Amino acid sequence: MPLLIRDADIVNADGRFTADIWCEGETITRIDRNITAPPGAEVIDATGKLVFPGFIDPHTHIYLPFMGTFSKDDYTSGSQAALIGGTTTIFDMCIPGRAEDPLTGFQTWSDKASGRSACDYTFHMAVTRFDAKAEAQLREIVRAGVASFKVFLAYKGALGVSDEELYHTLRLAKELGVITTAHCENETLVAEKQKELLAAGRTGPENHEPSRPPIVEAAGVHHLTTFAALHDAHVYIVHLSCEEALRVALEARHRGVNVWIETLIQYLLIDRTYAERPNFEGAKYVMSPPLRDRRNQDVLWHALRTGAISTVATDHAPFDFATQKTMGRDDFTKIPNGIPAIEDRVNLLYTYGVRTGRLDLHQFVAVASTNAAKLFGLFPRKGTIQIGSDADLVIYDPTYEGTISAASQRMNVDYNAFEGMKIAGRPHIVTVRGQVQVRDGQFVGKPDHGQFLQREPTHQ
Ligand code: URP
Ligand code: ZN
Ligand code: ZN
Repeated sequence: MPLLIRDADIVNADGRFTADIWCEGETITRIDRNITAPPGAEVIDATGKLVFPGFIDPHTHIYLPFMGTFSKDDYTSGSQAALIGGTTTIFDMCIPGRAEDPLTGFQTWSDKASGRSACDYTFHMAVTRFDAKAEAQLREIVRAGVASFKVFLAYKGALGVSDEELYHTLRLAKELGVITTAHCENETLVAEKQKELLAAGRTGPENHEPSRPPIVEAAGVHHLTTFAALHDAHVYIVHLSCEEALRVALEARHRGVNVWIETLIQYLLIDRTYAERPNFEGAKYVMSPPLRDRRNQDVLWHALRTGAISTVATDHAPFDFATQKTMGRDDFTKIPNGIPAIEDRVNLLYTYGVRTGRLDLHQFVAVASTNAAKLFGLFPRKGTIQIGSDADLVIYDPTYEGTISAASQRMNVDYNAFEGMKIAGRPHIVTVRGQVQVRDGQFVGKPDHGQFLQREPTHQ
């Protein structure tokens, strides 16, 4: 059914104006004043609301076999949670095991998502092994529309790549014009620090951060950017958490390295003291890189404001506290790493970014939507409200007031890391390609509406 959004206060990364938005099929086909809706069209009055382009989460783990278990969401719960929070497109990490072929992994993730995702999705293709066979298959996966890689410079003996593999992955990425996203920590330093701490009897979750301090993350960033420089490859640092790592990334950028930076809503709002909570409660807040000292938060907000950091993601990786985080009750290195946030990212960023004056509305749209679309080959199909773009719209109610709670969330996990935090604003209506998927916190749409988004390489 065609859709008319009347009196929309449209906020893009680069402008704001009031108009009606006419959506036909899956696309925005007209933006004008006083559009008359023909009979049969759905009309939504947006008076008093803000209308944003659908938000994009560039880093999620809906399906993730990891540390001896699996992340709790599936594409049904994860995508609906994303939509309730205003996220209409996700980039899930497709991560085959080292012994698995990339094509097998790609098929597995595609099968998990296909017919189950309510929001649009694409993948970053993880390179967990690089040899001739993997290379041939990676070429095929890029041809199939996955125009970004992922490497882990962490998780020694599991997902991490060797230096030789990193070298050849970046060389291939450069040749194909794809960007490589990277988890940056020095895996050897982490492994040695973990051993030391455990040997000293320090087994609780509060030891997670000391086992991977800021300089270990900064060393990972330096490593990545050095390899990227040799190939003139384009790289994107996922989940950057601290000032030390930021400085190294920005120094590399000043030397001409093509490096972009993502941070997470978690790092902006919660800190290492959460992982120090007693009675193993801290395990809920174990992720890598770890939550840091609060002093880093001002640095990250400032970097978002100035454009030094391009995106705010979630790294959504949900593991139940009661049954999964407890795998590490006697050994913090066995706590499944990850903090769920896919449902709350946008509302938290709006509340604690825009409403506090740390970000203006345009910076907010840029870091939560537009920049990811541009970096990863989706713009202007996604990330903006303009004629010809997909009709992914978030009609946002800035007068809503609520409190975050696991009791009312759609995410399929038994806690919420932001429990009790107030939000001031939430999506009133969310559309994906013209289909109304959410109304006032409830999923009301088509559970299988989400599509795989094919992307072309854009980093030649
Ligand atoms: O702790 C995290 N970040 N878990 C998810 C896997 C990853 O490293 O992104
Ligand atoms: Zn990571
Ligand atoms: Zn991740």
